[in-house]
Amino acid sequence: MPVSIKSQREIELMTEAGRILAIVHEEIEKALHPGMTTLDIDRLGEEVIRSYGCIPSFLNYNGYPASICVSVNDEVVHGIPSSKRILKEGDIVGIDAGVIYKGYHSDAARTHGIGKINKEAEELIKVTKESFFEGIKYAKEGHYLFEISAAIGRYAKERGFGVVRDLCGHGIGVNLHEAPEIPNYEMNRKGMKLRAGMTLAIEPMINAGNDQVDWLDDDWTVVTRDGSLSAHYENTVLITENEPKLLTLLK
Ligand code: CO
Repeated sequence: MPVSIKSQREIELMTEAGRILAIVHEEIEKALHPGMTTLDIDRLGEEVIRSYGCIPSFLNYNGYPASICVSVNDEVVHGIPSSKRILKEGDIVGIDAGVIYKGYHSDAARTHGIGKINKEAEELIKVTKESFFEGIKYAKEGHYLFEISAAIGRYAKERGFGVVRDLCGHGIGVNLHEAPEIPNYEMNRKGMKLRAGMTLAIEPMINAGNDQVDWLDDDWTVVTRDGSLSAHYENTVLITENEPKLLTLLK
């Protein structure tokens, strides 16, 4: 599949989809507290998404049964919200959400601590976010896709973390997942040339331990094989001739 270049009108719609998703994440972050369930997060997220006239893109996507992916501690991504999963002080929780606004998608993830978390967890969340910002130093016209991948992977690996290889970022637009695939590790080639108007969901998934992951029997939840903590950070990014625009971050 060729990588789509968005028109000015499409960029406007994706900008709005991104702005709304940034608000969804802010609302969820404000509400997080020990004692809440992962289903509470899903309910709140879906409510905010719909209050802006958007559709939660994850709901029923390939059969996914909720609007928000909520991944706790050793869960890497795609945790399924449950009324039985109660968050407690010291947990870390990955929140991944996507919305559709007038036919255009945005996709973003954050990882937060619940109450006070330990040093290792703090460091993992920080490095995961920083690795994204390392990557997007190369997210501009004239650079190559796998320069982003290599920068993310190198940054996290150098700090002793495991860089998940079984899941990637992706192009995004009229579909949640479009070409290209965006690995978070160094490739042996430079990949496609980046052009203004491409929109990419860049999403490092980083483990405190090694890079190995497993899928649970629910066929969704990805967990670290060694039981270590994992963090996820993602934004929908617009490539331009200059600095990239982070569509899912409020200025
Ligand atoms: Co994504």
